Amino acid sequence: MHILRILSSPRGAASESNLLSDSVIRHLQQCAHPEPVTLENLDATTLAHVDDDYAHAVSGPHAGHQHTPAAGTLAASSRLIQSLDRADCLVIATPMHNYTVPAGLKNWIDHVVRAHSTFQITPQGKIGALRDRPVYVAMASGGPVAGPHARQPDFLTPYLKAVLATVGLKDVIFFTVEGTAGNGAMLAAARQQAEQAVAGHFGLALQQSPL
Ligand SMILES: Cc1cc2nc3c(=O)[nH]c(=O)nc-3n(C[C@H](O)[C@H](O)[C@H](O)COP(=O)(O)O)c2cc1C
Repeated sequence: MHILRILSSPRGAASESNLLSDSVIRHLQQCAHPEPVTLENLDATTLAHVDDDYAHAVSGPHAGHQHTPAAGTLAASSRLIQSLDRADCLVIATPMHNYTVPAGLKNWIDHVVRAHSTFQITPQGKIGALRDRPVYVAMASGGPVAGPHARQPDFLTPYLKAVLATVGLKDVIFFTVEGTAGNGAMLAAARQQAEQAVAGHFGLALQQSPL
């Protein structure tokens, strides 16, 4: 099994979404055992914004007709799409930034959700071109985003679901560590709750797999 992990926190080793995604990966490895697992980590915070070449390739009068070799972010986009294509499953580690995905993850999305490539525009709407496979999202937020204590909108979850479905990725599972801005005890409780959700999900998967 080959896992592609997208990392998008600027906080490096201190990142709660990265930590939670480590746990998802450990469980995926356990479920896959004895099948070997390979992991490709992609740091989305290092990606350039899409450029002029890319914009012309996806929109405007010559969209979808490429006459010159791809350069700039169009070439980068093709490489990122290839690496997404190779993956059997995807793990996305994401902080909530201003109610939605951080800029680095949005950049990666702009590179791989590409008209005339990973989706087609038809009179019936946008049709995804990628094969479906599991996507695990490990999300971290400073405050609560769901339940009775949430005091903020959550555009991250519905946005990721919609944009991944655009390219054909519809099997999206969310795990969240909420309230990372709380005191030590609150953070420990939030981590434990998120960890239990991951263990519960994969424990069930292990029980159901015909070993
Ligand atoms: C630019 C920025 C915007 C943020 N916006 C929100 C927000 O809208 N809601 C929230 O609950 N936390 C917000 N936070 C807090 C982060 O979600 C929190 O620190 C979380 O742990 C980040 O994930 P990470 O630890 O993986 O980096 C924001 C943090 C930053 C740096």
